[in-house]
Amino acid sequence: MVGHVLATRARVDAEPALALGPVSVLPHRQRAGIGSAMMHAVLGAADALGEPLVALLGDPDYYHRFGFVPAQQYDIDPPDVSWGKYFQVRALTHYNGQRGRFHYPEPFDPKRFG
Ligand SMILES: CC(C)(COP(=O)(O)OP(=O)(O)OC[C@H]1O[C@@H](n2cnc3c(N)ncnc32)[C@H](O)[C@@H]1OP(=O)(O)O)[C@@H](O)C(=O)NCCC(=O)NCCS
Repeated sequence: MVGHVLATRARVDAEPALALGPVSVLPHRQRAGIGSAMMHAVLGAADALGEPLVALLGDPDYYHRFGFVPAQQYDIDPPDVSWGKYFQVRALTHYNGQRGRFHYPEPFDPKRFG
């Protein structure tokens, strides 16, 4: 194993969505396309499974290449307003106008970490 990506069940208000992350590649295997391959795989799988939306907290310079945009463009609020443009979403085929507050599943809920 040289990398991993994780998507977990989240919500936009009461509607289902996915939270993406963490994503990682072993340092000595980075910059060889593995991260991009994993991102395309997880987004393709999410789309095929009928998920409407994927959200993440990360560097826009990296994630915009996968179609992520600041969540505010979709009127989706991060769990923490200080996240600003770093909280991003990727709408999928089944996106149907979901908007509101994004809620991570309990293990990733930022309120757990103060
Ligand atoms: C981010 C990460 C998963 C990318 O994996 P990777 O296999 O190196 O990715 P790829 O080879 O597909 O793409 C590398 C490209 O991403 C760019 N990149 C990597 N991290 C970046 C960042 N934080 N901001 C901007 N660009 C970034 C590289 O410069 C490279 O660009 P290039 O293709 O123009 O040369 C990997 O660098 C990593 O594990 N980083 C440490 C953990 C981390 O930061 N995870 C993300 C937050 S949870």
